[in-house]
Amino acid sequence: MLEVSFGTGWLLTRYAGRFRTDGVDLNPAMLDVARRNLDRAGLFADLRQGDVEHLPYPDATFDTVVNTMAFTGYPDAAAAASELARVLKPGGRLVLVDIGYPADGNRVGTALVNRVWKPLGDLVRDMPVVLSGVGLEVRDDEVGGWGSVHRYLATKPARLDDVVESDRTVGPRPKDE
Ligand SMILES: C[S@@+](CC[C@H](N)C(=O)[O-])C[C@H]1O[C@@H](n2cnc3c(N)ncnc32)[C@H](O)[C@@H]1O
Repeated sequence: MLEVSFGTGWLLTRYAGRFRTDGVDLNPAMLDVARRNLDRAGLFADLRQGDVEHLPYPDATFDTVVNTMAFTGYPDAAAAASELARVLKPGGRLVLVDIGYPADGNRVGTALVNRVWKPLGDLVRDMPVVLSGVGLEVRDDEVGGWGSVHRYLATKPARLDDVVESDRTVGPRPKDE
């Protein structure tokens, strides 16, 4: 798994004991805090300083990429989304939690977006459009804040040539008698 923008690393401490875990954050001070929290929990994750727009991994490295309460802080949504998708394996999944408008126009949720998050500098985007724009298949669930906190589960489709390759391993079909 890869977590991008892990901050204090609280979430890393919930799963690093069960999965091989890598992490990237722009702020070197956060790496120190997260490493300390992992050490205290007796856990390890391979943490690196880096930018979501230039993730230091080859294409198709991870089964799962996690990104929470960070995307609305990235200036270039397309560049960030494209990198998150690039490092996912075909069939892999991005789990992204962040601020968005409530689909049903809930007044409290809408006010939170307009009067709290946006004035704080959050760049609130239409995430299904952003994520489908880089080829991911997106499911959007509202998980809190009167519909203003969303969890996007975005899957990278398996490539056609993978399908053809797996068909090949089955071998030639027997000729009709
Ligand atoms: C609001 S904190 C969220 C931390 C954590 N994910 C959470 O949910 O508590 C945003 C994090 O994004 C990181 N960040 C900001 N810009 C970044 C970038 N361009 N690339 C990688 N990380 C970035 C910050 O250093 C910070 O740790």
